Amino acid sequence: MSFNNLDQLYRSVIMDHYKNPRNKGIIEDGTMTIDMNNPTCGDRIRLTLNMEGDTIQDAKFEGEGCSISMSSASMMTQAIKGHTIEEAMHMSKEFSQMMLGEDYEISEDMGDIESLSGVAKFPARIKCATLAWKALEKGTREEE
Ligand code: FES
Repeated sequence: MSFNNLDQLYRSVIMDHYKNPRNKGIIEDGTMTIDMNNPTCGDRIRLTLNMEGDTIQDAKFEGEGCSISMSSASMMTQAIKGHTIEEAMHMSKEFSQMMLGEDYEISEDMGDIESLSGVAKFPARIKCATLAWKALEKGTREEE
């Protein structure tokens, strides 16, 4: 696949998550609620998780933001469900490396996340892509 086609494919994956977000909403009886905003634009996300021991049994998000932040939240909730916090933090690390333009490893469970790799070329949008992951990290820090 040529670079341009790949770029186009990635863009359509991002738009699909933006228009048809997965796991949108609030888990009413969730065990964790985390609010996070992007101070540069005011966009915000509320992430709710339902933990069973160390495992993220369910994850949902709601919020207001650009296509990058909302699609990234959709992809993240899809990826972390059914995984332990430790595994989710590993994914988060790989995602940050991807955003920094460094070598990264995307496991199969991370689904569509690689479609955001092009964001690394636009430093102003990196905060958009990492908003949901920052929320997750904040939640796990508070857990400790
Ligand atoms: Fe606000 Fe992207 S412009 S999160």
